[in-house]
Amino acid sequence: MFRTHTCGELRQANVGQQTTLAGWVQRTRRMGGMTFVDLRDRYGITQLVLNQDVNADLFEIANKLGREFVIQVIGEIAERSNKNANMETGDIEILVSELIILNESKTPPFTIEDNTDGGDDIRMKYRYLDLRRNSVRANLELRHAMAFETRRYLDQMNFLEVETPVLIGSTPEGARDFVVPSRMNPGQFYALPQSPQLFKQLLMVSGFDRYFQIVKCFRDEDLRADRQPEFTQIDCEMAFVDQEDVLQIFEGMVKHLFKFVKNIDFTDSFPRMTWADGMKYYGSDKPDIRFDMKFVELKEIVSGHDFVVFDSVPFVAGICATGCAGYTRKQLDELTDFVKRPQIGAKGLVYIRCEADGTFKSSVDKFYSNDDLKQIAAKFNALPGDLILMLAGEKRKTQKALCELRLEMGARLGLRDKNIFAPLWVIDFPLFEYDEETDRYYAMHHPFTSPMLEDIHLLETNKGEVRSNAYDMVVNGVELGGGSIRIHDSALQHEMFKHLGFTPEKAEAQFGFLMSAFQYGAPPHGGLAFGLDRFVSLFAGLESIRDCIAFPKNNSGRDVMIDAPSIIDQSQLDELNLVIDLKEKI
Ligand code: AMO
Repeated sequence: MFRTHTCGELRQANVGQQTTLAGWVQRTRRMGGMTFVDLRDRYGITQLVLNQDVNADLFEIANKLGREFVIQVIGEIAERSNKNANMETGDIEILVSELIILNESKTPPFTIEDNTDGGDDIRMKYRYLDLRRNSVRANLELRHAMAFETRRYLDQMNFLEVETPVLIGSTPEGARDFVVPSRMNPGQFYALPQSPQLFKQLLMVSGFDRYFQIVKCFRDEDLRADRQPEFTQIDCEMAFVDQEDVLQIFEGMVKHLFKFVKNIDFTDSFPRMTWADGMKYYGSDKPDIRFDMKFVELKEIVSGHDFVVFDSVPFVAGICATGCAGYTRKQLDELTDFVKRPQIGAKGLVYIRCEADGTFKSSVDKFYSNDDLKQIAAKFNALPGDLILMLAGEKRKTQKALCELRLEMGARLGLRDKNIFAPLWVIDFPLFEYDEETDRYYAMHHPFTSPMLEDIHLLETNKGEVRSNAYDMVVNGVELGGGSIRIHDSALQHEMFKHLGFTPEKAEAQFGFLMSAFQYGAPPHGGLAFGLDRFVSLFAGLESIRDCIAFPKNNSGRDVMIDAPSIIDQSQLDELNLVIDLKEKI
């Protein structure tokens, strides 16, 4: 037996017993004739003691141990005289009587400690070492627990896990596809699934009325903290349901995970907010409702005071930051610089300080009297001591910029506590999204999402107003999941394709199999998918989903550990009938 116990399990009650442990050397400390070794495995750290007077040979070996050597020891479990309350095994130590070096280790490129000295790049290159660190390991343990509990919950609810293929054709989730050339079909390519969307709908036609799958999805899109090119969905679909059924089942699942993993009870129903209200009050389809600070629209009240900035734009809105009237010039300049960043894009920031004596001071005093400012402040129910911040411009852009400013102020005021969770459903999304660049409408969710039946008459005349039967689950400003009730009627699906600019031929080529399936008794159905990586990150309080993925990609989509993507051999290219002709030579 390599070991009788793990490095995390021995306690006071084991004192006097013999043990065999195996693990990695975290560190060694020599103190006179004694050497202490911290031995680590997945379960914890146990202190080993080697005494020169007891066994000089072993003492010699112990002093040659380097960090991350793999060793096996046999010894007696003894009570420590100098107990360490910060360690689970801190009451005991092992008086080593045998020590075998199972494998040596080069000095690792960074220290494997909670607070490592390794930067991001080096830790990613040696990810297998990074994974030895407690914090990263804990994230993977949490991920396992959440995936396991999800499976158990859905199994109890009669969901069946069905695997769907990875080498498929294009799935329209709005990102670019990753493609794989086919050797057996020269010149042809598979696409990797952006999600199993079409397959899960086909499974509903097949009669599997409750499907789920914890599944890898692939999207070639620009990466951010909450996006990876390959990520994992908890993908679900149900037949014979309406929106309410889907929301109930999956609200139940999310509540169950909150209880099981975080021991947090959500007894009330999650709030529901329409997409229109999300935009109006938070400038976002994924509002962070841990704090209030709602937008107030001001165009009407601020117009007509010769202030060109406000008079010349279609939209003016603001937020009220409680207790921030004391912000210094420097702090206000910082906020102005913040909103002017290119990625936020505001032209400037107007403020009103609500002074303690009931008067107002603003950056636009020239145009607004104290009374005018008082009226504006009243719109926010602002109190003395509050600070009003206003932005102006084109509506959507200004809402987006004000959303960023609101989140920034929320962070500055400590209102975005990672240990507080504020879930909600966002509902009634628009069916279409207009894209100025290409001058056409796209499906906001995907082309299989059902319009609200009462809005169908607007399809021809006012596309922008048609609402869909789609919903997102949002927690703390993160879109955790989303889905919709689907179109199950082939005539309506054809009409949707037409509105989305597909010619009948293109729709047939891409989705003919689905249209054909719908002619053989498709039940009404709907579903949703959660991002497992985002879910775990939220529960673990992580800044980036990378930290809960064992082997993630960096921001350029590279796996720096295995150095992928990479150039392939000419022989492989020949087999695939591919010729590389890079437009820009590398
Ligand atoms: P959607 O595209 O909204 O819906 O994706 C569902 C959830 O997947 C997560 N997600 C991602 N996580 C990490 N990296 C990414 N690049 C990434 N992209 C998406 C998000 C998101 O909410 N087929 C539909 C679902 C349905 O209609 O049933 C779909 O994929 O948490």
